[in-house]
Amino acid sequence: LRCGVLVSGSGSNLQSIIDATQNGTLHSKIVCVISNKQEAYGLERARKHHIPDYFVNPKEEGYDEKVLALLQKHKVDLVVLAGYLKILNNTLIDAYKGRIINIHPSLLPKFGGKGFYGIHVHEAVLTAKEIESGATVHFVDGGIDTGSILLQKKLKIEENDTPENLQKRILNQIEHKILVEAIGLLEEREASMKVLVIGNGGRES
Ligand code: GRF
Repeated sequence: LRCGVLVSGSGSNLQSIIDATQNGTLHSKIVCVISNKQEAYGLERARKHHIPDYFVNPKEEGYDEKVLALLQKHKVDLVVLAGYLKILNNTLIDAYKGRIINIHPSLLPKFGGKGFYGIHVHEAVLTAKEIESGATVHFVDGGIDTGSILLQKKLKIEENDTPENLQKRILNQIEHKILVEAIGLLEEREASMKVLVIGNGGRES
C-alpha cells in the first residue's frame, strides 16, 4: 500500500511504520508525510528516511484541499493519522472513504472524542479508576474517534500509574505494535482482493 502519514507531534507512531517497512514486516511504502505543525519532529523523521515531507499551514485557506492534492500527487491509497491532532473535513474523508485509519490511545468507544487527546486521555482513564486501558486503530468517518474499529489491544493499569507513565507504556507497548499490525491486515485485504479479481476474471460471467 502507498501510505500517506499525517502527524502533528513527535511521530513515534510514524517511526514504528518506517521501521516496519524497512525491516520487511510491512510491504507498504510511506510515500509522504504531512503535518499541520511546522516544528513536528515527525517531519524530521521523514527527512531522515528520504520520505517527502510537507508542512501545510492550517491557518491558510484551503488546508484540506492542499493536503488532498499532496496525497493524490503521491498516489496515496491509505491515509494514516499517527498522532495527528486536527479534525479532517469532508473533502478528505469523501476522497479517501474507507481508506483513512487513526490510532487513539484508549479502548474506544471509551475516552474518545473532543478533548480526549494526548495526556488528557490517560488522566481521564485514571480518574475513572479503570482497571485496564490500551489503544485502538479505527477507520476515520466524519466524527472524532468514531469510525469502525479495526484493531484494539489492552494492558493492565498498575496502582501507582501516573498519566505520564501510562501514556508511555501504551505508546511503546501497544500503539507502535497495533498500528503496524493494522496496516498489515489491510495489506492482506488488498492482496486477497487482487486474487479475487484475478480469480473472477477467469470464470465465465
Ligand atoms: C500520543 O499521545 C499518542 O498516544 C497519540 O498521539 C500522540 C503522539 O504520538 N496517538 P506520536 O509520537 O506523535 O506518534
